[in-house]
Parts: sequence; structure tokens; C-alpha cells
Amino acid sequence: MPAKRLRPLAPPPAPVVRESPYPGLDLLPSAILLLDVEFRINHANPAAEALFESSLRNLRGQPVDRQTQSEELGLLLEEALRGKWSHRSQELELSFAGRERVSMACVLTPIEQGDNRVLLELRAIDQQLKVEREERLNEQAEANRELIRNLAHEIKNPLGGIRGAAQLLEFELPDKRLREYTQVIVKESDRLQSLMDRMLTPHRPPHITSVNIHEVLERVRSLLAAEFPRKISLVRDYDASLPELRGDKEQLIQVALNVARNAAQALLGAGTKNPEIVLKTRVVRNITLHKERCRLALDLHIEDNGPGIPESIRDRVFYPLVSGRDGGSGLGLTLAQTFVQQHRGTIECESRPGYTCFKILLPFS
Ligand SMILES: Nc1ncnc2c1ncn2[C@@H]1O[C@H](COP(=O)(O)OP(=O)(O)OP(=O)(O)O)[C@@H](O)[C@H]1O
Ligand SMILES: [Mg+2]
Repeated sequence: MPAKRLRPLAPPPAPVVRESPYPGLDLLPSAILLLDVEFRINHANPAAEALFESSLRNLRGQPVDRQTQSEELGLLLEEALRGKWSHRSQELELSFAGRERVSMACVLTPIEQGDNRVLLELRAIDQQLKVEREERLNEQAEANRELIRNLAHEIKNPLGGIRGAAQLLEFELPDKRLREYTQVIVKESDRLQSLMDRMLTPHRPPHITSVNIHEVLERVRSLLAAEFPRKISLVRDYDASLPELRGDKEQLIQVALNVARNAAQALLGAGTKNPEIVLKTRVVRNITLHKERCRLALDLHIEDNGPGIPESIRDRVFYPLVSGRDGGSGLGLTLAQTFVQQHRGTIECESRPGYTCFKILLPFS
């Protein structure tokens, strides 16, 4: 059979290179948008396209305040149109492509050029500030851990001697009634010993395996339900599609338990009506954790409707020995922070009367 003659393929069309009307803007590293009188995008330079994760073609005609979910930006743009000022710099919380809100340095300049009315420049300050803040917190936490380690060792050493001497003394006492005093020494030494042991525990090496965060949270729920029976409603709000984490399961249980137990203690301590703790899991994409770009991370929230963290200690709750509770040792959150940091994650809290949220971010890989 004669071979079938194939028709030669048509040459590929030459790529269409469109000249940008704003070559100068397109070279700038910060995101620049030109907006019309209704704040619709006329032009976005390549840095803005990257920020919005969308092409100029898709962005054109979209109202920028709606795209960034910011009413505040809308108000500033209105002021710009009314000619209230010649230029304005402000830090705003914006959201891009449905992602987590980030702080951006925004500069708005009213212009009159064709149908462009405002030039908006956006620069991410969040990254830089967040990295610096994290670094500072890490250094602080490391210094605290070192201090605690040394202090705990120094206290632990003579404790054994004190306890032993009290027991020897007890045998020598002529009057049995005096034993009450030596018993106090023994009991208090034991209490101090167990406190020191708690201070020293974070230094065991982690045992890393695949961990299902929802199993961790279910364990915490059942532990809390046993400790505070029927008093508090423990609400699950899980994203069932989450992948598994790499981590130390016991440590992660300890983290969630320490945070949730604090919530339970605060709720009961304040006698909150309809006390509720919510355990919420979500994913976040493209964030920076400990200076590393992280494509996918777990966003775990432990929320309660209790009285809030006392204002006097709100900035220091993660510091060791800071407690706002009678009988609290002030170590639960320090330990939680140590474990989270060992997992290359971060823990933060937001608190006001009626709402406290501990937000834990952990990378998935
Ligand atoms: N959800 C919360 N609501 C109100 N206050 C809270 C909450 N979480 C923490 N706190 C406050 O922060 C303090 C520090 O908590 P942390 O767990 O570090 O120590 P602690 O609970 O006092 O002692 P422990 O070492 O036994 O955990 C608590 O004493 C409490 O005052
Ligand atoms: Mg605690």
C-alpha cells in the first residue's frame, strides 16, 4: 500500500509581542495598578500580576477594592478621587486571590491621564516584618529555654539533698508530732522536683512519624471531656481533606492539650455561660515560616468564648513562669511554643473578652 502522504504542518504562528503602554512601570519590582474612576483596574504591571496570581487580561476591568476584599482601600480611593490629598501612604490588610490577609504598604497617588485616576503601589511588608518578628521571638524563646534549663538544673541538684536530710531528721526526732514539719519539707521538695522535671522535658529528641492532626485533636477532645465532664461544649470544625503531617504525635497532643486546657480552665474559672471550645483546621498556601517558603501548611485554631487572657500578661503568655491562674505554673504555653517551633511552625494568640484564639501554623512537609 502506498504510504499516505502527510500534509506538511503549518508553521506555528509567530508570538504576538504586545508593546506595553507603560514600559517604565512594568520594570518596577513593586506592584503598580492604574485605576479608573470606579477603581477598576486599567493596567497591572508584572509584579501586580504575580501578586494577584492573575494576568492583566483577567484583572482588567475588575474593581481593586473588591479584588482585595478591603473596604478601607475603597474609602481611601474615594478620598483620592475627591482630591483630599496629593499622595497617601498607608499600611492595609489585603487579601489576594482568596488567600490569607497580608499587611501591605500602599501608596495612592491621584492622577489625570487618559481614564486613569489613581496610581496604586503595593509592597509586601508582612514578609519582612514577619520574618524579623519570628526571628526575634525565636531568639527570645531559645534564650528562655537556656535560662530555664540552667535554672532547673541548679534547683534540682540540692533538692535531693534537702529531701534526704529531712527524712534523716525525721527518724531522729524525739517527738513524733514534729514530723509534720519534716513532712512539709519532703512534700514541697517533691512538688519542686516535679516542676523541675516539667521544665526539663522539652529536650528529649522528637520521634517523627506521619501524624493525622484530627486523631491528635480527637485525643485532646476525649482527654478534655474526661477532665471537664459535660461542662464545656467541644466543637469540631475540621477540614477533612487535610494531608498528614510529619511530626511527633505525643508532642502535638501536648501542644493542643495545653492550649485547650487553658481555655477550659478560663471558661470554668469565669463561669462563662454556654462555654465552648472550637477546634478548627484549615490549610493555608504559600506562606513563610521560619524564613522558608512553605507551599502548604496546617492552620489550626483553638478558640474559646471565655473571659480572654488577662491584659497584664497578654504580651507575655508564652514566657516561662507567666501565669494568670491560681496554682498555675506558667509552663503550659512555653512548652507548647517549644514543641511548635521544633516542628518549624509558629503559635500566636489573639484575645479579647469573649473571644480567645490560639493560631498554630505547621508546615505539611
Ligand atoms: N484561653 C485562655 N483564656 C484566658 N486566659 C488564658 C487562656 N490561655 C492562657 N491563658 C492565660 O495564660 C496563662 C499562661 O498559661 P500557661 O498554660 O502557660 O500557664 P498556666 O496554665 O498558668 O500553668 P500550667 O503550667 O499548669 O499550664 C494562664 O495562666 C492564663 O492566665
Ligand atoms: Mg496552662
